[in-house]
Amino acid sequence: MKYIVTGGAGFIGSNLVDRLIENGHEVTVIDNLSTGRKENINPRANFLQLDITDEKSIEPFFKGIDGIFHLAAMARIQPSFENPDLYFRVNVLGTRNILEAAKKNGVKRVVYSASSSAYGDSDVLPLRENFKVPAQALNPYASTKRIGEMLMVDLGKLTGGPETVCLRYFNVFGPRQSTLADGPYALVVGIFLGLKNQGKPMTIVPDGHQRRAFTWVNDVAEANMAAMNSQKVGNGEIINIGSGVSYSIWDIAKLVLESPNATPEQLISSGKCVLAPKRQGEVKETVADISKAKDLLGWEPKMNFPDGIKKLLEADKK
Ligand SMILES: NC(=O)c1ccc[n+]([C@@H]2O[C@H](COP(=O)([O-])OP(=O)(O)OC[C@H]3O[C@@H](n4cnc5c(N)ncnc54)[C@H](O)[C@@H]3O)[C@@H](O)[C@H]2O)c1
Repeated sequence: MKYIVTGGAGFIGSNLVDRLIENGHEVTVIDNLSTGRKENINPRANFLQLDITDEKSIEPFFKGIDGIFHLAAMARIQPSFENPDLYFRVNVLGTRNILEAAKKNGVKRVVYSASSSAYGDSDVLPLRENFKVPAQALNPYASTKRIGEMLMVDLGKLTGGPETVCLRYFNVFGPRQSTLADGPYALVVGIFLGLKNQGKPMTIVPDGHQRRAFTWVNDVAEANMAAMNSQKVGNGEIINIGSGVSYSIWDIAKLVLESPNATPEQLISSGKCVLAPKRQGEVKETVADISKAKDLLGWEPKMNFPDGIKKLLEADKK
């Protein structure tokens, strides 16, 4: 099949491109390299350095394409407070442009990378797709990703556009995740591994008891491929792609430091961890109910979090 992967130079997109190419598909990457890296892109993919906010420049390349994996986005929470307008242009208008270009060229299906941030700070866990989305999002990133889900319905089959499906990822981790070098807003696993390599203490955002369900990047790639092929979706369905088990920031520090029995107090007093400034707009806990993914996509995660961390630690030692 011929696929476009937007954001294919980024963390998740580049891993997905590798899997698609391994499976014999022809892949075109559209990416403006704003956060992605050219060296992430599989050399067997066609690469177009284009911006999804410019519909005219991308539209001609959608001709003859079977499906789009739409991952390009401004993808971090904290910078969205500083530049909400950029988030709106890329995540909302850019997503609208992808759907329009897909419609004009008769592309069959768009698989959209949505986010568990749509749930806000729910006290009811695990998070299920039929939960009401809070009227006010915790941050501009979450709003823009949620609007993307709505566009998948409004500009999808409902109005003569492509089939669509929305995958709500829960904290993704794995090879090519952002690292310390990508700045303070890289994701926690990448930051902790980088700090460990530099012999520096882990920086714990208070109080460290916030919990996240993590998802291995290859499992996310598998979910995308299943969503592209499943006969049971196509009408903008929202599907959790995550794990039913959550880990606290302290748990992550213990796994990365390979100190399974240390208490938070010991990690602080030994200098292995230090407290970082508090952050706004982040939730207490995420845990995914994945029964819908099992039912509609036949998907469930294969990698558990501690094994994934071990794999990343081993790769760092090599
Ligand atoms: N990483 C996670 O834990 C996570 C969780 C939930 C949802 N998501 C979603 O998954 C997708 C991929 O996230 P990621 O972690 O790989 O982020 P990433 O920043 O590594 O990848 C995003 C890619 O999009 C590209 N891009 C940004 N703006 C663009 C534009 N205007 N035109 C073309 N390309 C552009 C970037 O250069 C980058 O390569 C995003 O849509 C994100 O919202 C990620």
